[in-house]
Amino acid sequence: MSSLLLTGIAELTTVEESTGVLRDAAVVVEDGRFAWVGRAQDAPAADDALDLGGRAALPGWVDSHSHLVFDGDRSAEFEARMAGRDYAAGGIQVTTDATRAADDARLASLLAQRVRAAAAGGTTYLETKTGYGLTVPDEARSAALAAAAVDEVTFLGAHLVPTGADPEQYTQLVCGDMLEAVAPHARWIDVFCEQGAFTPAQSRRVLEAGRAAGLGLRVHGNQLGPGAGVDLAVELGAASVDHVNHLSDEDFARLGASGTGAGGVKVEGTETVATVLPACDLSTRAPLAPAKRLLQAGATIAIASNCNPGTSYTSSMNFCVGTAVLQMGLSLAEAIEAATLGGARALRADRESLAAGTRPRASGSEAPIGRIAVGHRADLHVLDAPAAIHLAYRPGMPLTHAVWRAGERVA
Ligand code: NIG
Repeated sequence: MSSLLLTGIAELTTVEESTGVLRDAAVVVEDGRFAWVGRAQDAPAADDALDLGGRAALPGWVDSHSHLVFDGDRSAEFEARMAGRDYAAGGIQVTTDATRAADDARLASLLAQRVRAAAAGGTTYLETKTGYGLTVPDEARSAALAAAAVDEVTFLGAHLVPTGADPEQYTQLVCGDMLEAVAPHARWIDVFCEQGAFTPAQSRRVLEAGRAAGLGLRVHGNQLGPGAGVDLAVELGAASVDHVNHLSDEDFARLGASGTGAGGVKVEGTETVATVLPACDLSTRAPLAPAKRLLQAGATIAIASNCNPGTSYTSSMNFCVGTAVLQMGLSLAEAIEAATLGGARALRADRESLAAGTRPRASGSEAPIGRIAVGHRADLHVLDAPAAIHLAYRPGMPLTHAVWRAGERVA
């Protein structure tokens, strides 16, 4: 395996506590991982070298929440929303109908285009969900396609009770035959615990069935109003609860305390990460998730795109991070950490060893992600700017200059 030395990094945000932000930095990449990180003047020799020309670099984005397996268009629904109509979960059925009607080749090609677009925007680790099939064969197909295209797959049969189905019978199907068909392709199970989707009792059944099948847990919670999502997620030890727009004081306390062991010390890898979705909040005109207050409460947060045709039709993590700084009151460092290491934590992929009871990642690699540190997967995002603050300072500009994923240049 040949090694590559990257120099000319004016500002390197490592998201590694001991290293912090380095000026005039360099990294060496070998065998898909970072082999050396430090000041350029101290860099060792390598087989090849590339000068990045005084640009800023940071870990590749970890997008821990997306719904990329779909067909169909919902721009009219979005336009109606911009004219004053509220978002409702029922729109999921529109995408479900279009997705079922697409043949495998078309669905795979749409998914591949979306994965390429995410990579071109600096995303190097991607989770995606099923949830627009809602029958046993359609959910299994979505999961199989996703497993061939992304790093992490989540089974979201409990996205919506399909039109005409009985909620209890459908929940039973999700927990039974559907789970059995999808589980071989997935590492996670998720449920939309919300009025108009699944009740807390149904959500609990789905999560417990998933856990019994060996899947890790994730929850869509507290998106459209206050509810039991956070409570359930923390109680069951879910890796993340996503959206979190409507939180009670108790929810902040629960998330702040989650993953706390004896003596009040956080046990890394056991917390329920609160995942905020800035692009979704804008696109649904929802109250912005209280990212800053979550941090102040001691919670771990992640930022993800939630790319989907209903509530957040963008995979641009540059946009999400810029928005988190401009609108959610996060500092640049907080936002970058949430969109890299935070996402890795939400997927329990920030460490080498697999969390007990979880399955291997779809990507096959078990290298830790989310930081620029020796031994971590060499996922690097180089900006066409001398400093990462340009992500918020020049929102919407094409700032991604180059991307390496596991040591391979992908953009
Ligand atoms: O995460 N909240 C539920 N699921 C998606 C929206 C899906 C849709 O409307 O198509 C979300 O926002």
